[in-house]
Amino acid sequence: MERSSLLTVVLVWAFLWISAIHADSKDDEKLLCTCENGKGTCMNGTCKGHICFYSWVHGHEERGCFSEVIYKEQCYSKFERLFMHCCRENLCNAFTTPPSNIKPTPTPPELNRPELWITLSLLLLITTASMCGLVLFLRFRRAHGRNDVHGDHDVTILKVPDGDDPTYGDIFDEFCTSGSGTGLPYLVQRTMARQISLVQCVGKGRYGEVWRGTWMGESVAVKIFSSRDEQSWFRETEIYNTVQLRHDNILGFIASDMTSKNSSTQLWLVTHFHELGSLYDFLQYSSLEPESCLRMCLSVACGLVHLHTEIVSSQEKPAIAHRDLKSRNILVKRNGQCCIADLGLAVIHSQSHDYLDVGNNPRVGTKRYMAPEVLDETIRMDVFESYKQTDIWALGLVFWEISRRTIVNGIVEEYCPPFFDMVPLDPSFEEMKKVVCVDQQKPSLHNRLHSHPILSAIAKIMKECWYQSPPARLTALRVRKTLSKLDHDSDFSIEKLKRDI
Ligand code: ADE
Repeated sequence: MERSSLLTVVLVWAFLWISAIHADSKDDEKLLCTCENGKGTCMNGTCKGHICFYSWVHGHEERGCFSEVIYKEQCYSKFERLFMHCCRENLCNAFTTPPSNIKPTPTPPELNRPELWITLSLLLLITTASMCGLVLFLRFRRAHGRNDVHGDHDVTILKVPDGDDPTYGDIFDEFCTSGSGTGLPYLVQRTMARQISLVQCVGKGRYGEVWRGTWMGESVAVKIFSSRDEQSWFRETEIYNTVQLRHDNILGFIASDMTSKNSSTQLWLVTHFHELGSLYDFLQYSSLEPESCLRMCLSVACGLVHLHTEIVSSQEKPAIAHRDLKSRNILVKRNGQCCIADLGLAVIHSQSHDYLDVGNNPRVGTKRYMAPEVLDETIRMDVFESYKQTDIWALGLVFWEISRRTIVNGIVEEYCPPFFDMVPLDPSFEEMKKVVCVDQQKPSLHNRLHSHPILSAIAKIMKECWYQSPPARLTALRVRKTLSKLDHDSDFSIEKLKRDI
């Protein structure tokens, strides 16, 4: 048995060896690898690259080529239930299979039938026999001192799973505590994205559509970008994949994927799903107590501080300005906190690395939320601080939307967008400019707000976000500090009240 499988393997390798020599004579640099037709540069079942790979993620197999540039991140990933094999010989990924000690996916009830068990056992036997053959062959090769011409060893990283199916949070934790820490390798992102079933469309707009999907039984949000907004997909994908952005108040990224469907390109961004939807949707049907209003405002400020702050330690992160902050781009979480979404227009700045990257997205922010210096076009586009200051203007407007829906003395206002009483629906640039720059109008604040310690403090913050002069506005950090203090003080007075009773 062992001898025959050894013979088979030797014959296969002899064939590969001849093919390898043949391919090398055509191209010194690159290897010939097995791949799936229709994917990337795959032609006639082969592609050319510096490394061949075989991947197995939850039963989904893929073979192909990696370039020298990306193979480290892809091949050296460590993840339960992902089997990754990278090798540096022609067609070396042709016959790779996942080892049998990978936990099979839960057995569906029909598999209890005896004939299926027999088939399964036979399959297992054949796989084990081939593996033994392969191991013997590799030992044989090593014993006979064949040198690896490229110097690198084949890379096979496998962690045998020991628990239940992982959540995408588990998968992220696996990757984020090792490697580059910015998220999942592209191949895993793509594999995950292609295992998602779209369930229900939860939003539609000029940007495209947002769907609730499921991945391994868990809900995920899938934003499908309209083709005219592809630059936003590129920008958001770039930022999430290069910047360490894991934060409670920033929408959690899972994967990005680009596919070709009927000769058009489909662009997906997969993120955490929040069933309460956007802050805009939430405020339509919910009113808040002052403490919940404070919690929401504080969480948005925390998210914005994280974006705006450059971190220079080992967990380094450039500063990011959002440029399209609004209630539709904020999601409400079950714990009453919010998280900021849509980084498609963001600008990136690093003082330590001395760069300002404004991207090349033709999109502009939402007119209703534009700061006076954007509307009158006096904004200093070469200065990063300017973009942060426009975010603060919009932050004040978001606080205003939340505060209108907050009950004080039994009074609450209906939901209205900022400047609802001064401009029409879908206002033009000129209409906004007249109200915000020429007339210098600010949204009005209801009197009830001044009679509550939390709401009066939030009203004061709003006013300080709306100075015509951008540098006079509060910073996100100052807003967060003031709100945090308010939060501690209100906790303290609630505790004191409880003690007094
Ligand atoms: N709408 C837009 N993004 C969403 C998300 N991540 N979860 C739920 N609803 C959304």
